[in-house]
Amino acid sequence: MWSLIVHGGAKEISPEEEEANRSGCINALEAGRTILASGGTAVDAVEAAVRVLESDPTFNAGYGSALNGDGEIEMCASLMEGKNVNVGAVTVIKGVWHPISVAKAMLFEEPILLASGGARRFAQQKQMELCDPADLVSPEQLERSRTGKHDTVGCIAFDQHGNLAVGTSTGGLDGSHPGRVGDSPVPGCGYYADNHLGAVAFSGDGEHIARKTLAARVMHALADGPEQALKASIKELETIGGEAGGIVLTAAGLSGWAHNSREFAVAFMTSDDKHAHVFLRKEDKEN
Ligand code: GLY
Repeated sequence: MWSLIVHGGAKEISPEEEEANRSGCINALEAGRTILASGGTAVDAVEAAVRVLESDPTFNAGYGSALNGDGEIEMCASLMEGKNVNVGAVTVIKGVWHPISVAKAMLFEEPILLASGGARRFAQQKQMELCDPADLVSPEQLERSRTGKHDTVGCIAFDQHGNLAVGTSTGGLDGSHPGRVGDSPVPGCGYYADNHLGAVAFSGDGEHIARKTLAARVMHALADGPEQALKASIKELETIGGEAGGIVLTAAGLSGWAHNSREFAVAFMTSDDKHAHVFLRKEDKEN
């Protein structure tokens, strides 16, 4: 049995952007599904799915990331595996096409998190795909920056070997202070995975999510059910005014998702499903 869930961010999606968000999530799901269905690992599936989202300027990750207050792109990404709770993460990294692949390369290294120039030097040493930081700026993001929207992408996979993995990737918040770090590269805040319990990934207001250690809260509450645990954590977030969306997969392969943002693009599928399930908001009926 395998299971896979991806999201394209807690945000507002205009009617003109709906199709791009739907198809972007389906494309990412398909990349991960191909790996899981052929017996590949959850780590590889998460990387593959997030790389698709990072390549798609519809989403605030990789190419088309948000611009900080200096008009530059600084990105964060993380990958965590649930068997031995290894973590790889990068933050404030510039000039790499796929931060999620740098995070994956970090997974079995001693440090769990590398920042800024040190993270890029690591990417260079590992022969990752580097670029000019300006190459990551998309026309779509320039337009979005003017409207102040933001989001983060994420994915959780459960593979046929019984292992969970989670990944996040983000360009952070539009106009933020250079060097700012949100929840996405911090375990227990924007994500977590443990084969004995489950895995969770968040998108939304990074400072609020970090202040409430939202991923840790969900992990501790998973016995109540995946969606109940998520809803309770978002309720807790609301006490300090934060907005977020989250996805969960349990060690039993059960999935859940919840959000208090206006929209939250999500796609999921298990080995029992004939087709992917795709939603832009919780209250939507399935097409
Ligand atoms: N949730 C992404 C960030 O706040 O950076």
